[in-house]
Amino acid sequence: MKDIDAKVLSSDVLAEGLIRIILHAPEIACEAKPGQFIHMLVPDNAHVLRRPISLMAMDAAAGTLTLAIQPKGRGTQMICSLKEGDTVKCLGPLGAGFDGKGAQTIYFVGGGVGVAPICGAMDGFATESSCAFFGFRTKNHVYGMTQAPCRVVAVSDDGSIGERALVTKPLLEAIEQKRPDLIMACGPTPMLAAVQKIANDMDIPCQLSLEERMGCGIGACLGCNVKINLPDGTWTYKRVCKDGPVFDSKEVAFGG
Ligand SMILES: Cc1cc2nc3c(=O)[nH]c(=O)nc-3n(C[C@H](O)[C@H](O)[C@H](O)COP(=O)(O)OP(=O)(O)OC[C@H]3O[C@@H](n4cnc5c(N)ncnc54)[C@H](O)[C@@H]3O)c2cc1C
Ligand code: FES
Repeated sequence: MKDIDAKVLSSDVLAEGLIRIILHAPEIACEAKPGQFIHMLVPDNAHVLRRPISLMAMDAAAGTLTLAIQPKGRGTQMICSLKEGDTVKCLGPLGAGFDGKGAQTIYFVGGGVGVAPICGAMDGFATESSCAFFGFRTKNHVYGMTQAPCRVVAVSDDGSIGERALVTKPLLEAIEQKRPDLIMACGPTPMLAAVQKIANDMDIPCQLSLEERMGCGIGACLGCNVKINLPDGTWTYKRVCKDGPVFDSKEVAFGG
């Protein structure tokens, strides 16, 4: 884990409401694994808390990190206003990412801004028999489809790209055709809960990347605790920033 001044190499519009930023951050890029994130300082003097942002792609040779950021509140709006040549303080790589070791066929599931870390996971673990299922609001929100290392099926809320359906529909259809060894998912909580139910009901190994509000980002403040089920029927809290953001779907207690 390094705390560095990363240089902005480029910033452009990736899709509607989504900005792509490419950073030169060789100290982080050389250590980063799919599913990990960086904690970015908001580039003003007003915000003390950093913002967690996933790694959409990392290139150790070029020393670059690619991010896809939704300008939501003031912090991400400021980060999205960074321009080529600016620097931004980044701490990372942080967290426990996806683990695709030993899995031949992986089904990747991404929704909205959650497609970004799934692109990183696909680069790291996709095989020829793997497939990705992406859900977008409309065709204007689509990204991550070109240069994907495996087949991608996209659906949308309005039917302007792919079927008008929830992403779990093509996922279920694909599982009926061929059961995967592993599912990896990131997206809104209702999507993750639906993927969790499918995976747990069918006893398919599944890893879910969770989002939680963060303070320190390094496991010290307990601000990002989530409820985790234990095998003996009891539960405990785990930290999204340090123990996650990726958890086994059998552990996660949504709404609990
Ligand atoms: C592990 C992880 C990876 C993420 N990856 C991405 C990504 O790749 N792209 C992207 O656009 N967004 C990502 N997010 C969400 C992003 O961090 C929040 O949208 C952002 O922190 C909101 O800050 P803000 O100042 O814009 O909003 P505000 O609402 O003004 O933020 C106020 C406070 O709440 C926290 N907060 C608000 N919403 C969230 C949230 N959903 N998750 C965590 N903290 C939140 C902020 O950090 C800040 O401390 C990720 C979140 C996590 C936990
Ligand atoms: S944000 Fe401090 S422990 Fe996770």
